[in-house]
Amino acid sequence: MTTNSTVLANVALPQFDVPFTTVTDIPAAERDALRDEIKQLLRAQDAVLVAHYYTEPALQALADETGGHVSDSLDMARFGHEHQASTLVVAGVRFMGETAKILNPEKRVLMPDLHAECSLDLGCPIDRFAAFCDEHANRTVVVYANTSAAVKARADWMVTSGSAEAVIMHLSDRGEKILWAPDRYLGEYIQQKTGADMLLWPGSCVVHEEFKARELHELVQAHPGAEILAHPESPPSVLELADYIGSTTGIIQAARRSKARELIVATDRGLFHKIREVVPDKILLEAPTAGHGATCSSCAHCPWMAMNDLRKLAATLRAGNNEITVAPAIATRAVVPIKRLLDFSKQHQTRIYGANDA
Ligand code: 13P
Ligand code: SF4
Repeated sequence: MTTNSTVLANVALPQFDVPFTTVTDIPAAERDALRDEIKQLLRAQDAVLVAHYYTEPALQALADETGGHVSDSLDMARFGHEHQASTLVVAGVRFMGETAKILNPEKRVLMPDLHAECSLDLGCPIDRFAAFCDEHANRTVVVYANTSAAVKARADWMVTSGSAEAVIMHLSDRGEKILWAPDRYLGEYIQQKTGADMLLWPGSCVVHEEFKARELHELVQAHPGAEILAHPESPPSVLELADYIGSTTGIIQAARRSKARELIVATDRGLFHKIREVVPDKILLEAPTAGHGATCSSCAHCPWMAMNDLRKLAATLRAGNNEITVAPAIATRAVVPIKRLLDFSKQHQTRIYGANDA
């Protein structure tokens, strides 16, 4: 392995608003009625529900019960691509809907709320990103899935948290220098694992960057024997304490393998729903996001993922609105790095999750 060090680019990021997480409690009777209606609408419209692990448990359960899928961003894309349904309903954030549309231009792709964004996507606008790429034209451009269609269209490769290490290793072995965007912490982590020459866009996830190492350390001391499972979008000080680092699916698999009774999880608490299904006897603890006077605006739950709920999903299916569109000129270029990843993950192993998966 070479010993290149990470270089964080000096790029000014745009300002954007982070919405407050508002979870509306829907009364039980209404929930039941909505669930029945959504099931019927999915059938009537030849639609399948694909949900991310960070969406609320009611949506995840509905996806599972109706022949849909709950997964990480790579697997959501793959499932939607391989499924026969003519309409994909994506419960997640905008880049996931766009990826589904790019891969399936002939299908209708709907989302419960088109305002469900992602701080990584918002922090990497195409104009600044394209200028950055132009300045470093000798580098292979690798972007995280959490980017706009336009940014993907400017990239050579798309990766997800579960596939980034294998792809970067592959490119580095071919002697390629990498321009990486937009998550700096995932980029730093992958650089350390692979030794690749990487220039990093300085973006971050508003949820993961709020995990606090000092409080996490105190929590482990109060729970001796607990294992820490962390998503690599977390800061290095948090990752240093982790027993396992990997994608959302990787974390679920690590929980299954773990011998510990208590697990401390440093990612969006939406993932707890699936972890509990897999290891119902374990005690799950949220990694701390605040304490000692710290503030947190996203508190282990993505405010944009929280925009997905049963009411909005039913309304979307009733009206057939909130359709994702991607300009064909962008889609035809953006599909190249996405397909490269899907082909790569098929060739190298059927599924890639995290750094130290069995
Ligand atoms: P995964 O690819 O691990 O699902 O992560 C997506 C994401 O948005 C994490 O914050
Ligand atoms: Fe984006 Fe972070 Fe939300 Fe994932 S959790 S969608 S990276 S803001």
